[in-house]
Amino acid sequence: MSQTKRWNVTMSSNAITEAAGLLKDGKTVAFPTETVYGLGADATSEKAVSGIFRAKGRPEDNPLIAHVATKEQLRGLVTELTPLAETLIDAFTPGPLTIILPTNGTCAKNVTAGLSTIGVRIPSHPVAHELLKTCNIPIAAPSANISGKPSPTTAEHVWADLQGKIDGLVDGGPTGVGVESTVVDCSQDIPVILRPGGITKEQIEQVSGTVMVDPALADSSDKPKAPGMKYTHYAPEVPMWLVAGSADKLQEVIHKEQKQNKRVGVMASNETAAKMNADHIIPLGSDLVEIAANLYDALREFKNGDVDVILCETFPTTNIGHAIMNRLEKAATSYIRE
Ligand code: TXA
Ligand code: MG
Repeated sequence: MSQTKRWNVTMSSNAITEAAGLLKDGKTVAFPTETVYGLGADATSEKAVSGIFRAKGRPEDNPLIAHVATKEQLRGLVTELTPLAETLIDAFTPGPLTIILPTNGTCAKNVTAGLSTIGVRIPSHPVAHELLKTCNIPIAAPSANISGKPSPTTAEHVWADLQGKIDGLVDGGPTGVGVESTVVDCSQDIPVILRPGGITKEQIEQVSGTVMVDPALADSSDKPKAPGMKYTHYAPEVPMWLVAGSADKLQEVIHKEQKQNKRVGVMASNETAAKMNADHIIPLGSDLVEIAANLYDALREFKNGDVDVILCETFPTTNIGHAIMNRLEKAATSYIRE
């Protein structure tokens, strides 16, 4: 493939119809969701779905999420909606939540990577919603990046990674939440978070009482239940180190590296960033919500030749900080603790 068609959805009213036409034709189309851009294909067609794995260079044992417009469509992909699933869907969707339930086989085998369960989600982004409604088929969609790189939060990120490898890209501007959906196993009575994301543990707790977190999220020696969580992810071009502790500690590490003739990049909250002296500083925002929205763009911003190492401050793991720290720990090559 050599040509990727790109629509600017705010300027062309045909964009959704054309993009939906390509998807129904078995083609691959990237589109915005409220979390990150997804790379979509017809989830009922093994051949269409294989186009996603090919374009991203994604390992075939990593299952995809099926996206639909309504709860009724979602019901059509699973053996049954457990009471817990109903509760979470009613409370948080459309929105950044993926629920895991036993598949009824409607989606192609390569969507679930041969598992007996499937991840399903109803995105709230108006462009994603229109597209899903117009094509009226379940759409398998991982994040629209080359495997291993940070997920895309703008159409430019998708274009940089996948131009010429996919059939279309619907440009709907920057996404919003900035980190992916929360993946929750709903097959039992108690929800189990397999990947922290846009809906927080605290929010889920409010509607379901108890919430469990996959032990592998805290201990990397455990095998994660979301297969994708075991891969290297979100990696910037240059090595990134997490630095726990105060702003003074961060500045100390910056100086130490600069003394060894390294050019040092820094990612930190606006407050910490304002106090730093380094070669390239990216302020991520003034609170956790802003930091989540800017995180992947910042990781993509540091280039080879620009800096030799990126130092990033650590953040509280409350609310969306849980997802931020999960992604940073996966992106980092080392962790400097006090
Ligand atoms: O926000 C999102 O979820 C974005 C947008 C595009 O919707 N999508 C996304 O997809 O992040 P992806 O493929 O990059 O991540 C899906 C995650 C992976 O960690 C995968 O292993 C897990 O969900 N997953 C999918 N199906 C699963 C299943 N049946 N059981 C356990 N984990 C599953
Ligand atoms: Mg991904």
